[in-house]
Amino acid sequence: MTSEGHWHSAVVYQVYWRSFKDGNGDGIGDLKGLRSKIGYLSSLGVDAIWLNPTYPSPQGDHGYDVSNYFDVDPLFGTLEELEQAIDEFHDHGMAVLLDIVPNHVSSQHPWFISAKEGGHGHEAESRFIIRQGKGDSGGIPPNDWKSVFGGPAWSKFPTEAGRPQRWYLHMFDECQPDLNWENPDVHERFEKILEHWYELGVDGFRIDVAHGLYKAPGLPQIETFAGNWSACWDQPEVHEVYRRWRKISNNYDPRRFLIGEIHTSSRERLLEYVGEDQLDAAFDFSFLHQPWSAEGFVERIIENLQFADETNSPPVWTLSNHDETRHWSRYGTDPEGKPIDFVETSTRYRSLISLMLALPGRIFLFNGEELGLPQAEVPDESRQDPAFFRQPPESDYKGRDGCRVPIPWEKEEENAGFSTGEPWLPMPRNWHLYSVDAQDEDSGSMLNYYRDQIRMRKSHEWMGLGQVSQLSSDDGLLSFVKSRGQDKVMVALNFNGIPMQMPRGEILFRSGACFSEDPQLEPGEIVFLLLHEGV
Ligand code: GLC
Repeated sequence: MTSEGHWHSAVVYQVYWRSFKDGNGDGIGDLKGLRSKIGYLSSLGVDAIWLNPTYPSPQGDHGYDVSNYFDVDPLFGTLEELEQAIDEFHDHGMAVLLDIVPNHVSSQHPWFISAKEGGHGHEAESRFIIRQGKGDSGGIPPNDWKSVFGGPAWSKFPTEAGRPQRWYLHMFDECQPDLNWENPDVHERFEKILEHWYELGVDGFRIDVAHGLYKAPGLPQIETFAGNWSACWDQPEVHEVYRRWRKISNNYDPRRFLIGEIHTSSRERLLEYVGEDQLDAAFDFSFLHQPWSAEGFVERIIENLQFADETNSPPVWTLSNHDETRHWSRYGTDPEGKPIDFVETSTRYRSLISLMLALPGRIFLFNGEELGLPQAEVPDESRQDPAFFRQPPESDYKGRDGCRVPIPWEKEEENAGFSTGEPWLPMPRNWHLYSVDAQDEDSGSMLNYYRDQIRMRKSHEWMGLGQVSQLSSDDGLLSFVKSRGQDKVMVALNFNGIPMQMPRGEILFRSGACFSEDPQLEPGEIVFLLLHEGV
């Protein structure tokens, strides 16, 4: 199992289980499917997995609307099966992170049902953010806050005769009422949830919307639609919650790992969340959102390394997750959004995973990225993401389904081996070309590239640990020197659209497999160069 020390340079694989592997033919991934692929994950060489929410849920936001935090959704399997899976992952040397959702619950959670059905003034109301509306009969929402998914952040409770209209706050979909963290009951319940899962062997949590929870006192009017979220997120009280969670997580051996999904207005504010007394780590979304540019990537790396120094916690690198356009498609286009040459896209893509693996810290991979999956086209009539349905008519935003399309396993099988039933999101017709069995057989495939690179990181300590120096982006060449013990390696990535002169040093590895004899560094290519004394 991943010991505390391993978290410093862990490669973590995110399993969006609905799309990973279906074991019972209902078209939705599940535990049976996941368990059948533990060998696959082990052969990829990852140290841990992060499972998207596995709790019972009406699946209004695909698990981020939890109706019971102590159990497992029957769609996914049973609690016993999850416990067995955790043991099996541990036997294969992998740790398991679950996803905890503390900002909101499902509108089908018993707490919310009591608040809704209890009527005006019922004590259950105090666990949510419920207010009377404005205007004579309360028909106008209490303030102008907008939901992250679009539309108003308030929905009505059933009307009660002779009473002003009550509204509840939901920063996401209306099936996700926000909890009131001013209420000590809420704290107690979440502490019990952590302990429940830790007792079952879970190694830690990814905390959903970790910057949420508290809202500014009085819920002041602000123009959220103009991008001002200052009253909705990142309130000072939230840190006390994580101080408590840290203490609880430290009561276990090895101490449990906490990583936050945190969006703040600045890195200074992000700093407040990470450190000995709170979270182990926070995702760095500015790296993920960085367009293809040597200068931009160098800036992001510098900021992230500084952040790591200041928090005394290794950095986190990630390029894709279940909320973002797959990075094959993001980096496979020119600045105008037109697709670029396939070979260059593939070279860029290989170079980016090699770059991340050559940086110190933790790497989070999103399932399917090791197959080089692009963002899939999903027809509007098949879309499932609540964010799509809440968009105003003029919006071009299509939601997040395109990165959630199921994984292709077997090229000859129905639905590329994902399921014998109809997949919950349609799989593009050419998806079987990306399948795991097809890539297994091809030594030059993306899958084998990922495997080789992860293996290389395991056998070369300078990659995952080591010190970075001499970061530069001169002439569109991103480069730095990585040192550990006797090893001194230059990492150089060509961000230009034309070949560059190869920097000096002994070539240890280069990403453009088909250019192995090429004396130049090709567009998008990365190289690791051993630096000998005097170079
Ligand atoms: C996070 C999750 C996202 C979810 C939202 C609401 O951003 O990553 O998938 O929809 O929180 O829980």
